[in-house]
Amino acid sequence: MRKSTATDASSSVILAVESSCDETSAAISKNGEILSNIVATQAVHENYGGVVPELASRAHQQNIVPIVHQALQKANITKTMLNAVAYTQGPGLLGALLVGSSFVKSLAWGLQIPLISVNHMQAHILAHFIESPRPQFPFLCLTVSGGHTQLVVVRDYLAMEIIGETMDDAVGEAFDKIAKLLGLPYPGGPHLDRSAQQGNPERFSFPATSMPELNFSFSGIKTAVLYFLRDQLKHNKQFIEENLSDLCASVQSTLISMLLEKVEAAASQTGIREIAIAGGVSANSGLRSQLQVLATQKQWQVYIPKIEYCTDNAAMIAMAAHYQYLAGLTDTLAVSPNPRLKFGSENND
Ligand code: KG4
Ligand code: ZN
Repeated sequence: MRKSTATDASSSVILAVESSCDETSAAISKNGEILSNIVATQAVHENYGGVVPELASRAHQQNIVPIVHQALQKANITKTMLNAVAYTQGPGLLGALLVGSSFVKSLAWGLQIPLISVNHMQAHILAHFIESPRPQFPFLCLTVSGGHTQLVVVRDYLAMEIIGETMDDAVGEAFDKIAKLLGLPYPGGPHLDRSAQQGNPERFSFPATSMPELNFSFSGIKTAVLYFLRDQLKHNKQFIEENLSDLCASVQSTLISMLLEKVEAAASQTGIREIAIAGGVSANSGLRSQLQVLATQKQWQVYIPKIEYCTDNAAMIAMAAHYQYLAGLTDTLAVSPNPRLKFGSENND
């Protein structure tokens, strides 16, 4: 249950933990400045071509103590200097979230300091406030990750509204599933991106599904690629190897055009010209460069996070926690993780 507590705004030293998927991360912030951000990526999933929830939970268990220790050490902060501890409440894998939340709850209890529950997707957006240039409110954020694809109007640090989202797969899922069809290792998104940089995006054409309003759909392109490859492989067993970079470039350019079409529509509907991208897929080189090109045409101000703040990290959780702390939004120890956590005030039940 969320409560409102009087917090000392002049001093906020926060330890934040992220454990929603396959990255175990801990960060320390002091008055909104990130002092350390340690991320351990779990390599174990590579052998399985996707995240195995049980293995993710076990790896978080192994990583969490050394990662938190490193984050404190790098920031030159001791546990007794902490004013609050924060964790990712959701969305994410329940077993993975439980590791971070249980650890942080124990710390909050032991140290008798406030606990702050953070929404992972809101935190991806607030990663824009880690460093300059910071967006001006209101801004539009395309949040693209392995589990979500959302267009969000960000009115304030804690006031965000989803105005469009995917009706089926997330765009990161589309990148990963198509990469898998192309025989690329997991997680496929970055591999597909790398190969696309050598390819011709106009060589193959795949259908770009356009959903009503500001929504997205990415399941159709995955199926189209599957059928296309199956037909081509009947004639030529080496088709993928011989055409890999052109296939990657063509898929990537279709996915990017589907995203940017809706960003353009959202900007024109809302009249907002401050445009940001966030989440793992915002690390994509094609998306980053094409957004810049569109921004010049449209005279938008665009905000593209550093690569280390695109993919999952605890610095973004610390940033979100900082603003919640300033607003006095802390939790009791009765709170629990929610794998399907939504935006808004219904979060902490
Ligand atoms: O935000 P994130 O680290 O984790 C989730 O919250 O899901 O996003 C992970 C997703 C994966 O689907 C991964 O393949 C994708 O982000 N991704 C990329 C790139 N880097 C990460 N997709 C395309 N191009 C990239 N360079
Ligand atoms: Zn994420």
